Amino acid sequence: MSETNTTRLPRHVAIIMDGNGRWAKAHKLAVAQGHRQGTEALRAIIRESSDIGIEALTIYAFSTENWRRSRAEVSALMSLLLEYFTSEIDELDEKNVCIRILGDKDGLPAPQRDALIAAETRTARNTGLKLNIAINYGGRAEIVRAARMLAQKAVSGEITPEDIDENAFAAALYTHDLPDVDLLIRTSGEMRLSNFLLYQCAYAEMEFPTVLWPDFSLADYHAALEAFAARDRRFGGRKQ
Ligand code: IPE
Ligand code: IPE
Ligand code: MG
Repeated sequence: MSETNTTRLPRHVAIIMDGNGRWAKAHKLAVAQGHRQGTEALRAIIRESSDIGIEALTIYAFSTENWRRSRAEVSALMSLLLEYFTSEIDELDEKNVCIRILGDKDGLPAPQRDALIAAETRTARNTGLKLNIAINYGGRAEIVRAARMLAQKAVSGEITPEDIDENAFAAALYTHDLPDVDLLIRTSGEMRLSNFLLYQCAYAEMEFPTVLWPDFSLADYHAALEAFAARDRRFGGRKQ
């Protein structure tokens, strides 16, 4: 990336990694192979994000709706998740990456849940890239959870209804200490949020490259970052 554009890096990048199934089909492979190839792309993007100094990277790994897929595909995804965390954790920790899971960990099988908690605990004090992985995550579920937490606090007298403002609400989300999403990237040409970071994307810039996730390269990533750097963000205001 050019010097000028590194000064306009997004603080928070969110990625919907889409197209693994289509990639597998195009290569006449089983869908699980598409997901496996997708983890290679992910590894490179995480490393690059850390190297260029992105503050926070949030990736969508498994949605609350993805349970609707076949038992075989869900099971392949869960195995891959465990394999990924087991093989990557040393390098991520070495790179000072701080891992956080967004979503309902209790709804996951015990080995996966335990591995995710171990990764969070081990990297909790790391001060480099904030890597948030959305697993068993839904934006609506996250918002409802926040509303319930605030309602409980109000009922117990800890806060009053008037205390519930945008700051208090944001503080009750999984992303409580992170900046809003600056740049959302969804691969494979689909142009929808699919229940991802609904609250946090209020003013996100969006990029929808047509490349399928397993083929998403560093050049594609840089192209999205360059596109972001050229955007005119107004947040509802007007330039004087
Ligand atoms: C995204 O790839 C990965 C997950 C949902 C886990 P898909 O599996 O959705 O790929 P397509 O959309 O079928 O190509
Ligand atoms: C969104 O992709 C979820 C993840 C990438 C984990 P999907 O492929 O599940 O979304 P839809 O079904 O096309 O909206
Ligand atoms: Mg998809």
